[in-house]
Amino acid sequence: MLITGASSGLGADFARAFAARGSRLILVARRADRLNELAAELHEAHGTECVVIPWDLGTWRAGSDLAAEVSRRGLRVDVVVNNAGFGTHRAIADENADTVASEIALNVGALVDLSRAFLPGMIARNDGVILNVASTAAFQSLPYLGVYAATKAFVLSFTEALWGELENTDVQALALCPGPTRTEFFDVAGSDAIAGPLQESPVVVAKAMKALDRRRPKPFVISGTGNWWGAAASRFAPRKTVIRLGRKIMLANRPH
Ligand SMILES: NC(=O)c1ccc[n+]([C@@H]2O[C@H](COP(=O)([O-])OP(=O)(O)OC[C@H]3O[C@@H](n4cnc5c(N)ncnc54)[C@H](OP(=O)(O)O)[C@@H]3O)[C@@H](O)[C@H]2O)c1
Repeated sequence: MLITGASSGLGADFARAFAARGSRLILVARRADRLNELAAELHEAHGTECVVIPWDLGTWRAGSDLAAEVSRRGLRVDVVVNNAGFGTHRAIADENADTVASEIALNVGALVDLSRAFLPGMIARNDGVILNVASTAAFQSLPYLGVYAATKAFVLSFTEALWGELENTDVQALALCPGPTRTEFFDVAGSDAIAGPLQESPVVVAKAMKALDRRRPKPFVISGTGNWWGAAASRFAPRKTVIRLGRKIMLANRPH
């Protein structure tokens, strides 16, 4: 199985969870040192065989190039965890064009490329999982986190469509929608930690693993009861109210 963004946070904890279940792993991110450390940890703990592929997925078609590299190495992929992603917390007018292009290429482009590349094999074997990490940011637009929230809305919509296409097969598509979680995410985004309790990353991963174990899996799962209520409310409350509330929260947690 292949996990993107395995060098920290949720991706590293997904690797730990799948390793504990006996999976062989392909670990992808840019920081090779972190990936090698994780591979050593998992080998020590579970005897896990890991293949480390340092790869920058933040450019257009990088996901397709990675898929080609995986097949060139003769590796079979039956589970893809499209987890790598980052956010930028600033007014859209102040965004850096290159950073935003990379954010969209990673959060959206690589996720679509990798899903598309590995799906035909999974469908042919009638076995496999595409687990895409979205966010509770997928359920409403967020001023000052606008590009990021839009990418996550894409991930949720795309994964639900995939779920619809695969419903009568044994290939699963699941979008995980975490709320604020204690990882390196906020350091990368340059934000102060979002107000309110942060979930721990292993707890969020356990929620996704439980969702995958269901006999009839859902198209998406939201981690945390408070996050579930927040997402539900933003679907039913008046749109302008939701946008204004999002603006208030994002301004209260200004980038430092
Ligand atoms: N933490 C939260 O509050 C939260 C909430 C909702 C959703 N999420 C989502 O959860 C996912 C994981 O994020 P996290 O919270 O675990 O944050 P994180 O600790 O910052 O991890 C992000 C991972 O993405 C990788 N990555 C970033 N840019 C990359 C690139 N250009 N190419 C390849 N890999 C790249 C990073 O590795 P390298 O830097 O080594 O490349 C790292 O392994 C993301 O999709 C994020 O949007 C997070």
